[in-house]
Amino acid sequence: MSVRIAPSLLSADFSNLARDVARMEAGGADWLHVDVMDGRFVPNLTFGAKVIETLRGLTKLPLDVHLMVVEPERYFDAFAAAGANTLTIHVEAAPHLQRQLARIRELGCLAGAAVNPGTPIESVHEVIADLDILLVMTVNPGFGGQRFIPASVDKVRRARAMLNAAKSAAALEVDGGINRDTILEVRRAGADTFVAGNAVFAAKDPAEEIAALRLQCMERA
Ligand code: DX5
Ligand code: ZN
Repeated sequence: MSVRIAPSLLSADFSNLARDVARMEAGGADWLHVDVMDGRFVPNLTFGAKVIETLRGLTKLPLDVHLMVVEPERYFDAFAAAGANTLTIHVEAAPHLQRQLARIRELGCLAGAAVNPGTPIESVHEVIADLDILLVMTVNPGFGGQRFIPASVDKVRRARAMLNAAKSAAALEVDGGINRDTILEVRRAGADTFVAGNAVFAAKDPAEEIAALRLQCMERA
Protein backbone atom coordinates (compact mmCIF):
# COMPACT_ATOMS: atom_id res chain seq x y z
CA MET A 1 0.00 0.00 0.00
CA SER A 2 1.49 3.31 -1.05
CA VAL A 3 1.95 6.22 1.32
CA ARG A 4 1.03 9.83 0.66
CA ILE A 5 2.30 12.74 2.72
CA ALA A 6 0.12 15.84 2.46
CA PRO A 7 1.57 18.93 4.18
CA SER A 8 -1.16 21.27 5.41
CA LEU A 9 -0.68 24.83 4.22
CA LEU A 10 -2.54 26.07 7.28
CA SER A 11 0.86 26.03 9.00
CA ALA A 12 2.74 27.68 6.12
CA ASP A 13 4.22 31.18 6.28
CA PHE A 14 1.57 33.15 4.41
CA SER A 15 3.96 35.98 3.68
CA ASN A 16 6.06 33.41 1.82
CA LEU A 17 3.41 31.13 0.41
CA ALA A 18 5.07 30.68 -2.98
CA ARG A 19 8.37 29.80 -1.30
CA ASP A 20 6.69 27.31 1.04
CA VAL A 21 4.76 25.64 -1.78
CA ALA A 22 7.98 25.28 -3.78
CA ARG A 23 9.69 23.81 -0.71
CA MET A 24 6.93 21.24 -0.28
CA GLU A 25 7.15 20.25 -3.92
CA ALA A 26 10.94 19.98 -3.82
CA GLY A 27 10.70 18.19 -0.49
CA GLY A 28 8.67 15.33 -1.92
CA ALA A 29 5.14 16.13 -0.79
CA ASP A 30 2.55 14.00 -2.58
CA TRP A 31 -0.47 16.25 -2.10
CA LEU A 32 -0.88 19.77 -0.72
CA HIS A 33 -3.62 19.89 1.90
CA VAL A 34 -5.73 23.05 1.84
CA ASP A 35 -7.95 23.70 4.87
CA VAL A 36 -11.02 25.76 4.04
CA MET A 37 -12.82 27.03 7.14
CA ASP A 38 -15.90 29.24 7.29
CA GLY A 39 -16.12 30.42 10.90
CA ARG A 40 -19.38 28.47 11.25
CA PHE A 41 -18.69 24.76 10.97
CA VAL A 42 -15.43 25.49 12.81
CA PRO A 43 -14.54 28.62 14.78
CA ASN A 44 -11.84 29.75 12.36
CA LEU A 45 -11.63 31.41 8.94
CA THR A 46 -9.12 30.60 6.23
CA PHE A 47 -9.08 30.41 2.43
CA GLY A 48 -11.49 30.70 -0.48
CA ALA A 49 -11.41 30.02 -4.21
CA LYS A 50 -9.02 32.87 -4.91
CA VAL A 51 -6.27 31.30 -2.82
CA ILE A 52 -6.86 27.91 -4.41
CA GLU A 53 -6.52 29.51 -7.83
CA THR A 54 -3.27 31.14 -6.71
CA LEU A 55 -1.94 27.83 -5.41
CA ARG A 56 -2.91 26.16 -8.70
CA GLY A 57 -0.63 28.61 -10.48
CA LEU A 58 2.25 27.77 -8.15
CA THR A 59 2.36 23.98 -8.31
CA LYS A 60 1.47 20.85 -10.23
CA LEU A 61 0.93 18.91 -6.99
CA PRO A 62 -2.63 17.74 -6.35
CA LEU A 63 -4.53 20.24 -4.19
CA ASP A 64 -6.32 18.26 -1.48
CA VAL A 65 -9.11 20.57 -0.38
CA HIS A 66 -10.69 19.92 3.02
CA LEU A 67 -13.95 21.82 3.38
CA MET A 68 -14.75 22.58 7.01
CA VAL A 69 -17.81 24.59 6.08
CA VAL A 70 -21.58 24.38 6.33
CA GLU A 71 -23.45 23.93 3.05
CA PRO A 72 -20.26 22.86 1.24
CA GLU A 73 -22.10 22.38 -2.06
CA ARG A 74 -22.25 26.16 -2.44
CA TYR A 75 -18.51 26.13 -3.16
CA PHE A 76 -18.06 23.02 -5.32
CA ASP A 77 -18.19 24.71 -8.71
CA ALA A 78 -15.91 27.60 -7.79
CA PHE A 79 -13.34 25.39 -6.11
CA ALA A 80 -13.29 22.85 -8.92
CA ALA A 81 -12.87 25.67 -11.44
CA ALA A 82 -10.08 27.15 -9.30
CA GLY A 83 -8.12 23.91 -9.64
CA ALA A 84 -8.93 21.73 -6.63
CA ASN A 85 -8.17 18.05 -7.28
CA THR A 86 -10.05 16.67 -4.30
CA LEU A 87 -13.00 18.05 -2.39
CA THR A 88 -13.62 16.50 1.01
CA ILE A 89 -16.78 17.43 2.90
CA HIS A 90 -17.77 16.70 6.48
CA VAL A 91 -20.58 14.20 7.00
CA GLU A 92 -21.74 16.41 9.91
CA ALA A 93 -22.42 19.19 7.40
CA ALA A 94 -23.79 17.02 4.58
CA PRO A 95 -27.37 15.82 5.00
CA HIS A 96 -27.43 14.74 1.34
CA LEU A 97 -24.05 13.10 1.41
CA GLN A 98 -24.56 10.76 -1.55
CA ARG A 99 -25.77 13.50 -3.83
CA GLN A 100 -23.01 15.85 -2.75
CA LEU A 101 -20.28 13.25 -3.33
CA ALA A 102 -21.71 12.40 -6.75
CA ARG A 103 -21.66 16.08 -7.66
CA ILE A 104 -17.98 16.38 -6.70
CA ARG A 105 -17.14 13.50 -9.05
CA GLU A 106 -19.24 15.08 -11.78
CA LEU A 107 -17.03 18.14 -11.51
CA GLY A 108 -13.98 15.97 -12.12
CA CYS A 109 -12.61 15.99 -8.56
CA LEU A 110 -11.96 13.11 -6.19
CA ALA A 111 -14.79 12.95 -3.67
CA GLY A 112 -14.00 12.75 0.02
CA ALA A 113 -16.01 12.42 3.23
CA ALA A 114 -14.55 13.47 6.58
CA VAL A 115 -15.68 12.33 10.02
CA ASN A 116 -15.05 14.26 13.23
CA PRO A 117 -13.70 12.41 16.27
CA GLY A 118 -17.20 12.21 17.78
CA THR A 119 -18.86 10.89 14.64
CA PRO A 120 -19.17 7.12 14.13
CA ILE A 121 -17.25 5.76 11.15
CA GLU A 122 -20.44 3.87 10.20
CA SER A 123 -21.90 7.22 9.07
CA VAL A 124 -20.18 6.74 5.69
CA HIS A 125 -21.10 3.09 5.29
CA GLU A 126 -23.93 3.66 2.82
CA VAL A 127 -21.82 5.85 0.51
CA ILE A 128 -18.61 3.82 0.25
CA ALA A 129 -19.13 3.36 -3.49
CA ASP A 130 -19.25 7.16 -3.88
CA LEU A 131 -16.00 7.74 -2.00
CA ASP A 132 -12.50 8.32 -3.33
CA ILE A 133 -11.24 9.48 0.06
CA LEU A 134 -12.29 8.68 3.61
CA LEU A 135 -10.82 11.26 6.00
CA VAL A 136 -10.73 10.31 9.66
CA MET A 137 -10.12 13.43 11.77
CA THR A 138 -7.61 12.70 14.49
CA VAL A 139 -8.26 16.06 16.22
CA ASN A 140 -11.39 18.22 16.34
CA PRO A 141 -11.03 20.43 13.29
CA GLY A 142 -10.43 24.16 13.38
CA PHE A 143 -6.79 24.70 14.20
CA GLY A 144 -3.34 23.36 13.41
CA GLY A 145 -0.94 22.17 16.08
CA GLN A 146 -3.39 20.20 18.23
CA ARG A 147 -2.71 16.90 19.97
CA PHE A 148 -3.56 13.63 18.26
CA ILE A 149 -6.53 11.85 19.87
CA PRO A 150 -5.35 8.29 20.72
CA ALA A 151 -8.81 6.71 20.28
CA SER A 152 -8.46 7.54 16.58
CA VAL A 153 -6.19 4.54 16.05
CA ASP A 154 -8.96 2.04 16.65
CA LYS A 155 -11.31 4.09 14.51
CA VAL A 156 -8.83 4.02 11.61
CA ARG A 157 -8.58 0.24 12.02
CA ARG A 158 -12.35 -0.06 11.74
CA ALA A 159 -12.39 2.31 8.77
CA ARG A 160 -9.79 0.16 7.00
CA ALA A 161 -11.81 -3.00 7.70
CA MET A 162 -14.94 -1.32 6.34
CA LEU A 163 -13.21 -0.20 3.12
CA ASN A 164 -11.62 -3.60 2.61
CA ALA A 165 -14.91 -5.42 3.18
CA ALA A 166 -16.48 -3.23 0.49
CA LYS A 167 -13.46 -3.77 -1.80
CA SER A 168 -13.09 0.01 -1.92
CA ALA A 169 -9.91 1.55 -3.27
CA ALA A 170 -10.63 4.84 -1.48
CA ALA A 171 -7.69 6.57 0.18
CA LEU A 172 -7.82 6.43 3.98
CA GLU A 173 -6.57 9.81 5.15
CA VAL A 174 -5.82 11.02 8.67
CA ASP A 175 -5.58 14.67 9.70
CA GLY A 176 -4.56 16.31 12.97
CA GLY A 177 -1.57 15.88 15.25
CA ILE A 178 0.30 13.62 12.82
CA ASN A 179 4.04 13.63 13.52
CA ARG A 180 6.97 11.24 13.89
CA ASP A 181 5.50 9.85 17.10
CA THR A 182 1.93 9.30 15.96
CA ILE A 183 2.22 8.34 12.29
CA LEU A 184 3.35 4.76 12.76
CA GLU A 185 0.32 3.69 14.78
CA VAL A 186 -2.19 5.08 12.29
CA ARG A 187 -0.19 3.64 9.41
CA ARG A 188 -0.31 0.21 11.05
CA ALA A 189 -4.03 0.67 11.57
CA GLY A 190 -4.42 1.07 7.80
CA ALA A 191 -4.17 4.76 6.92
CA ASP A 192 -2.33 5.54 3.67
CA THR A 193 -2.58 9.33 3.39
CA PHE A 194 -1.17 11.56 6.11
CA VAL A 195 -1.83 15.27 6.57
CA ALA A 196 0.84 17.04 8.58
CA GLY A 197 0.88 20.76 9.29
CA ASN A 198 2.81 21.70 12.36
CA ALA A 199 5.17 18.72 12.15
CA VAL A 200 6.37 19.74 8.69
CA PHE A 201 6.34 23.53 8.94
CA ALA A 202 7.76 23.86 12.45
CA ALA A 203 10.65 21.58 11.51
CA LYS A 204 14.03 23.14 10.84
CA ASP A 205 14.14 21.33 7.53
CA PRO A 206 10.63 20.61 6.17
CA ALA A 207 11.96 18.35 3.41
CA GLU A 208 13.79 16.24 5.95
CA GLU A 209 10.63 16.03 8.03
CA ILE A 210 8.56 14.80 5.06
CA ALA A 211 11.23 12.17 4.41
CA ALA A 212 11.25 11.17 8.08
CA LEU A 213 7.49 10.76 8.16
CA ARG A 214 7.61 8.62 5.03
CA LEU A 215 10.43 6.54 6.41
CA GLN A 216 8.50 5.83 9.61
CA CYS A 217 5.71 4.41 7.43
CA MET A 218 7.96 2.41 5.12
CA GLU A 219 10.37 0.85 7.52
CA ARG A 220 8.11 -0.51 10.16
CA ALA A 221 4.69 -0.88 8.61
C1 DX5 B 1 -7.35 20.90 11.40
C2 DX5 B 1 -6.99 20.84 9.94
C3 DX5 B 1 -5.70 20.19 9.71
C4 DX5 B 1 -4.52 20.89 10.34
C5 DX5 B 1 -3.51 19.85 10.68
O1 DX5 B 1 -8.56 21.49 11.54
O2 DX5 B 1 -7.96 20.12 9.22
O3 DX5 B 1 -5.45 19.90 8.35
O4 DX5 B 1 -3.93 21.86 9.51
O5 DX5 B 1 -2.47 20.46 11.36
P1 DX5 B 1 -1.53 19.67 12.38
O6 DX5 B 1 -0.80 18.63 11.60
O7 DX5 B 1 -0.64 20.75 12.91
O8 DX5 B 1 -2.41 19.06 13.44
ZN1 ZN C 1 -7.41 19.39 7.16
